[in-house]
Amino acid sequence: MPNVVIVGTQWGDEGKGKIVDVFTEFADVVVRFQGGNNAGHTLVVNGEKTILHLIPSGVLSPKVVCVIGNGVVLDPEVCLQEIEKIKAKGFLKKEGSLLISETAHVIFPYHKRIDRLREDNKGSEKIGTTGRGIGPTYEDKMARMGIRMCELIDADLLRRRLESILPEKNLYIEKNLNGQPFSFDEIYEPYYRYGEQLKQYVTNTPLFLREKIKKKKNILFEGAQGTSLDVDHGTYPYVTSSNTVSGNACSGGGVGPTDIDAVIGVSKAYTTRVGSGPFPTELHDATGGHLQKEGAEFGSTTGRPRRCGWLDLVVLRHAARVNGLTGLVLTKLDILSGLKEIKVCTAYRYGGKVLKEFPGSIEVLEECEPIYETLRGWEEPLTGIKKIAKLPVPAQKYLKRIEKGAGLPIIMVSLGASREAHIFIKNPFRKN
Ligand code: IMP
Repeated sequence: MPNVVIVGTQWGDEGKGKIVDVFTEFADVVVRFQGGNNAGHTLVVNGEKTILHLIPSGVLSPKVVCVIGNGVVLDPEVCLQEIEKIKAKGFLKKEGSLLISETAHVIFPYHKRIDRLREDNKGSEKIGTTGRGIGPTYEDKMARMGIRMCELIDADLLRRRLESILPEKNLYIEKNLNGQPFSFDEIYEPYYRYGEQLKQYVTNTPLFLREKIKKKKNILFEGAQGTSLDVDHGTYPYVTSSNTVSGNACSGGGVGPTDIDAVIGVSKAYTTRVGSGPFPTELHDATGGHLQKEGAEFGSTTGRPRRCGWLDLVVLRHAARVNGLTGLVLTKLDILSGLKEIKVCTAYRYGGKVLKEFPGSIEVLEECEPIYETLRGWEEPLTGIKKIAKLPVPAQKYLKRIEKGAGLPIIMVSLGASREAHIFIKNPFRKN
C-alpha cells in the first residue's frame, strides 16, 4: 500500500526522473503534481535516452497508470507532441494509461509571450526562467482568470473564457511589455483542436486516486524542480512559481496528508543550479569545470550550462525539514571519482556569525560564505558497483558524513544514468 512522494532537495536536476523510473517497478500509479514542461527528466533504458518534460517518468513502465495532476500547468501542444513521441517508442499503448486532471490549468501562447517579454525587459535582473509560460499561468490560476482542462475540451466554454480573458492579456502585452497582441482566432482555432485530441485523457484524477488508495495500490508522487526553487521555501524571487515541496503532492494530486507513507528526497552528490539567484557553494574554478564536464551538466529543457558547486548540507537540512523527508537518494556519486579532495558545506558564515540553517532572505544568503569540511576523495570509477561495502572507503565515509549532516538515512545511491546503475539500501515500498 505505501504511497511515496519523491522530491528534489536542491535547485532541481537532481536526477529524480531516473529514480522515479527505478521506483516505478514497485508502483501502480505515478503522479506529477506541480510544475509543467519547465521540467526535464532524462531516462536511459537499454542504452536509449528519453527526455520527458511533462508526462510522468513512470511512462516507460507499461503496467503503470500515469497521472498529470490538478497542480500541474499543461501546455497542450507540448503534451500532444510528448504523447506522440512516447507512443512511437512503443509505450502508452494501453487505453487509460495516461490520465490528465480536468482541473489542471492550461498554458496559452499569451503566457509564454508574457514570460519571455518580461525576462527580456528585466535585463540583468532576469530570473532566468525556462520561458515556457509557467509563472504567468500560475498567476492566472491564483487571479481566477485561468482556463482549465475541463474548459479546453469544451469548444463553447473555451470560446467564452477566451473572449473574456484575451482582451486583458493583450492590453498587458501591448501597453506594459511592448509586445504583439494575439488575435482571438490565432489562439482559439488550434487550442480547441488540441482540446479535442486531449479529451480522451481528461478525467477526475483525485477520484481515480481515491479508488486506487481504497484498493491498496502503490502510488508514487513525482516532484519536479527542487526545494530551493519552491515559491515559499526557495530562494525567492529566483524560484519557480509552484510549491515543489512534498506537501503539494496532496493539494496538487488531490489526496490528503494521511495518504502519504514516505517522502524521499533526491540530492546530487554535489550541487547544480540553472538560472539566476544565490548559490553559496558555487565553484568558478577547475573543480567546477570537472563537475560540469563529467556530470554533463547542461539543462535538458533549455540546454543551458548548469552552475556547479560542492554539496551544501545547510540546503539539505532545510529540505529535510520542509519536506518531512524520511529518506535520501544520492545521485551522481560516480562523478566525484578522480577528485583528490571533496568539500562539503556544513554551515555559513554571515557577518561574523555562523548560520546553521538556511536563511529566508536572499540578501542574507548572497552574503553567506560557506564553511567547508574537507574529506579525502577517491580515484576509482564506481561503474558497476552493486554494494555499499564495495565502494572505495573515502566514498563510504562521504555517504556517512552526508547522513550525519542531513540527519537522514541514505536509502539508495545512483552511480550513472542507466536504470541499472544504482545501489538499493532500503526500498520505501517494502517493509524491509
Ligand atoms: P520557470 O519555472 O520557467 O518559471 O523558471 C524559474 C526558475 O526555475 C529558473 O531559474 C529556472 O531555471 C528554474 N527551473 C525551472 N524548472 C527547472 C527544472 O526542472 N530544473 C532546474 N531548474 C528549473
